[in-house]
Amino acid sequence: MFFYVFKFFFWLFFLSLQVSFFDKKQNNLLKMNNIAIFASGSGSNAQAIVEYFRSLGENPVKIILSNNKNAFVIERAKTLGVECIIFNKDDFYHSSRVIDILKERNIDFIVLAGFLWLIPNSLIDAYANKIINIHPALLPKYGGKGMYGMHVHEAVVQNKEAYSGITIHFVDEKYDNGAIIFQAQCKIEEGDTAEMVAQKVHQLEYAYFPKVVRQLVLNRPIEEVLGVNQ
Ligand code: GRF
Repeated sequence: MFFYVFKFFFWLFFLSLQVSFFDKKQNNLLKMNNIAIFASGSGSNAQAIVEYFRSLGENPVKIILSNNKNAFVIERAKTLGVECIIFNKDDFYHSSRVIDILKERNIDFIVLAGFLWLIPNSLIDAYANKIINIHPALLPKYGGKGMYGMHVHEAVVQNKEAYSGITIHFVDEKYDNGAIIFQAQCKIEEGDTAEMVAQKVHQLEYAYFPKVVRQLVLNRPIEEVLGVNQ
């Protein structure tokens, strides 16, 4: 008799554990936003973000948008099976095409991953505090117009900086100017070339950007991301 009572309560306990685990997972998924990624170039960060979510069984990246019809990110999107749309300057600055595309897909969070055009006010207003960017340096240094790609790393090396790194920040109407969300740094050794710095910075991007994006869309503390590789 005692054995059956014990078995019953043990089974009850096990069931409640399962239910709370399922609830938690459901809750997280319900809170998970639909994400659009904007990219102008290679798209290695876009790929890292999609793959990170998928490694957790999640698939919030609904679309990749590019302003460059020759960008390698288009190939990556195809391989990943993520919808990809190209737009031009007129679409972006003088029509509602891009916002329409986002609204039709219920996008509520935008990630700029190597996207080179300034974001128009109409898009910033439509997605207030829901657009983030990654910059390959420690802002506020080495940001602003013309500071992109290798230009950033060349300037960092030329100025003999001891550190570079990444900055993830909210996007406003100026280049690389919005509130900083997260930074991680890497040491620059004597003799490092701009290419070597670019490599180090890319490693930081892949390690942190996907995790920071996930924390933000789940409304979780960014501090949970700290401690990895630092
Ligand atoms: C990254 O270094 C990112 O920090 C910057 O542009 C580069 C994009 O690289 N904004 P990829 O296209 O993701 O490979």
